[in-house]
Amino acid sequence: MISATDFIPSQYTHSIEEGNFQWSAPSNIALVKYWGKKDNQIPANPSVSFTLNNCKTITKLAFAKKNTSTALNIKDDFSFDLLFEGQSKEDFKPKIQKFLERIEIYLPFLKDYHFTIDTENTFPHSSGIASSASGMAALAMNLMSLEKVLNPEMTDEYFYQKASLLARLGSGSACRSVKGQVVVWGNHANISGSSDLFGVEFPNAVHANLKNFQDTILLVDKGEKQVSSTVGHDLMHNHPFAERRFAQAHENLDQLISIFESGNLDEFIKIVESEALTLHAMMMTSMPYFILMKPNTLEIINAIWKFRNKTKIPVCFTLDAGANVHVLYPENVAEKVLQFIKNELVGYCQNGQYICDEIGNGAVLI
Ligand code: PMV
Repeated sequence: MISATDFIPSQYTHSIEEGNFQWSAPSNIALVKYWGKKDNQIPANPSVSFTLNNCKTITKLAFAKKNTSTALNIKDDFSFDLLFEGQSKEDFKPKIQKFLERIEIYLPFLKDYHFTIDTENTFPHSSGIASSASGMAALAMNLMSLEKVLNPEMTDEYFYQKASLLARLGSGSACRSVKGQVVVWGNHANISGSSDLFGVEFPNAVHANLKNFQDTILLVDKGEKQVSSTVGHDLMHNHPFAERRFAQAHENLDQLISIFESGNLDEFIKIVESEALTLHAMMMTSMPYFILMKPNTLEIINAIWKFRNKTKIPVCFTLDAGANVHVLYPENVAEKVLQFIKNELVGYCQNGQYICDEIGNGAVLI
C-alpha cells in the first residue's frame, strides 16, 4: 500500500532559477459526503464526487530562486506574495502560510524560492461557493509542475497522486478536484486503489445515464457561513451518531458502485439526497448544533420533489456545507429542468442568481 512517506523526495537531479506556470482547477460536488476527519486531513469516511467544469480557480505561480547572499536567514521562512484578481490579498496569506508549512516535508525546495501566487475564480466572489477546493487544487498543480522540473523522471501517476495529496493538505475536498470526472477519496474495501491520502478516479465504468450530468447551483445565500467546515468537521469528534454515520458512508458508496454500473437513476437520487440531508442532520445534532440551510433551501427541496413526482423527470438536489442547492440532472432533460428552474426556483435565489455547471475532467495546465 502507498504511504505518505513515498511522497517525500530524496535528491533532485535538476534545478531551475525562475519561471512560472498556470493551472486551472475546478470545484467538485460530493455525492457521498466527507464530514469528519482525523489528524493530517485523513477523512473519517470515504467520499465520492462529480468534478465540475465551469466553477474553477485559475492560478498563476511565478517563482524565483532567492538570492542567499543578500541575507543570511533568507532561507528560514517561506516567501510569497498573494494576489487575488490582480490585487494584493493579505487576509488569504495565513491560510497559504499554513498550507506551505504542512506540505514542506513533501516539497523541500519551498523555502528556496520567492513565489508570486496570482489567483482568480470564474464564479462570483462571496457567492457562497467555496473556492478552497478549486483554489488549493490549482496551487497544488502548480507546485507539482515545479517539482517535475526538478525531477523530470517522475511518472504521471506520481504527479497526479501527489498533487491530490498536497491539495488534501490544503483543504480535504480539494483532493477530489485534480483528475477525473468521478473521484473517490478515502479507503473503501470495494474500490481498488482508493486511498485516504489522495483522490482517485472512480476505477469502474460509469453508465451512460450518469455521464454528462448537469449541476445547476442555486445561490440561496451568499453571506458568510456562521460555522466554518473546519469547526463542523471537528464537531464530529464527540458526535453521538458519528460512528454510525461513518459506516453509512461506506454502505452508500457500496450502493453507488452498483448504481454507476446499472445507471439506475431512482436509486442514485435516493442515495444522493439522503447524503445531503444526512450531512445537515449531522450539523443539527452536534453540540453545539447549527443550521446552515435557509428557509429557501427547504422551499427549493420541496419544489424539486413536487416537480419530480409530477413529471417523473430524474432531477434531484444535493447540498454542500451551506444554504445553496445543487440541482443534479442528466443532460437529456436539461431543457425541461432549466425551464422549471427559471419558472419556479429562481425566485428563491438571492438576486435571482444561479450558475449552470456540468461534469468536467479536472485540472488543466494553461
Ligand atoms: O474540504 P472541506 O474541509 O471544506 O470540507 C467540505 C465538506 C463538504 O463539502 C460538506 C462535503 C464534501 O465531501 O465535499
